[in-house]
Amino acid sequence: MRSLLFIPGDSPKKLDKGMGSGADALLLDLEDSISPQRKAEARGITAAFLKEARSAKSRPRLFVRINGLATGLTDDDLDAVVAAHPDGIMFPKAEGGAAVSRCDAKITAREAMHGIPDSTLDIVAIATETAAALFLAGTYGGSSKRLKGLTWGAEDLSAELGAEANRDAQGNFLAPYQLARSLCLAGAAAAQLQAIDTVYVDFRNEAGLRRECEEARRDGFTGKMAIHPAQVAVINAVFTPTAEAIARAEAVVAAFAAEPGAGTIGIGGVMYDRPHLERAKQLLARVRGVAA
Ligand code: COA
Ligand code: MG
Repeated sequence: MRSLLFIPGDSPKKLDKGMGSGADALLLDLEDSISPQRKAEARGITAAFLKEARSAKSRPRLFVRINGLATGLTDDDLDAVVAAHPDGIMFPKAEGGAAVSRCDAKITAREAMHGIPDSTLDIVAIATETAAALFLAGTYGGSSKRLKGLTWGAEDLSAELGAEANRDAQGNFLAPYQLARSLCLAGAAAAQLQAIDTVYVDFRNEAGLRRECEEARRDGFTGKMAIHPAQVAVINAVFTPTAEAIARAEAVVAAFAAEPGAGTIGIGGVMYDRPHLERAKQLLARVRGVAA
């Protein structure tokens, strides 16, 4: 998934608009964009939307962002939406693999109740929203076979840290949030999950978004969350491997295939060794994912 577009789960108009946005996934939100008074209504609107949208011929993947375990709202959220069979659950304020396992068990119970095959729904976890979570970023491996991706957030973390800001005057993340970003990236790689970059909230600033996407791709993220439909095209463009990158990856794979015993190979005057082969294979796997 290159682009994952957040949509407040209580807005039928935005939900409809999301279907034509070009996003690879929609994140139907029951959490931070919904006021406490509207949680129940948002659950109903989101479930109704899911039932309808699921059967569309060509559609984005549909995830619901539920409320975190500490809120006491998680069970009611899952009761309302699992029956409507989303493709997955976005699990916020995750504190390590143990919390993901708890979320998994809650989903498993509802799948059974609604006759959905076991482990059909995926999980994407938001791994850096509390201070405690930062220290658990390396614990996601093996926590749940549903877990497919990790992402990170700076807004809740800055509130918890008591910070005045999370970006500097130029819009660059400050040190505590760069750490959170790196921990998400390393935690995802350690657990063999997709690393998904956080939202860019300045949604009229296309150049700033593009730069942040390019920096994320450079570092190993393979997708980014969006908050506005206008951000989707930029995110998709940056996270779609270029023809040049694909050709380079194919050349590396072909060169190693031609010399199965080789540890290192020269192509066009540049050295390639095993880590390059691994990277090339990952890129080609991603290309197949986008095509599918
Ligand atoms: N998903 C789907 N449609 C959206 C959208 C979204 N995230 N954000 C905006 N739109 C729609 C608007 O409804 C509007 O539709 P219209 O042209 O039919 O009237 C159109 O896109 C243009 O929107 P615009 O006027 O530029 O923005 P806005 O002021 O209406 O909305 C936000 C700004 C930030 C409130 C809105 O983008 C939003 O709700 N984003 C998601 C917030 C969220 O889910 N946050 C939680 C995760 S951090
Ligand atoms: Mg949040």
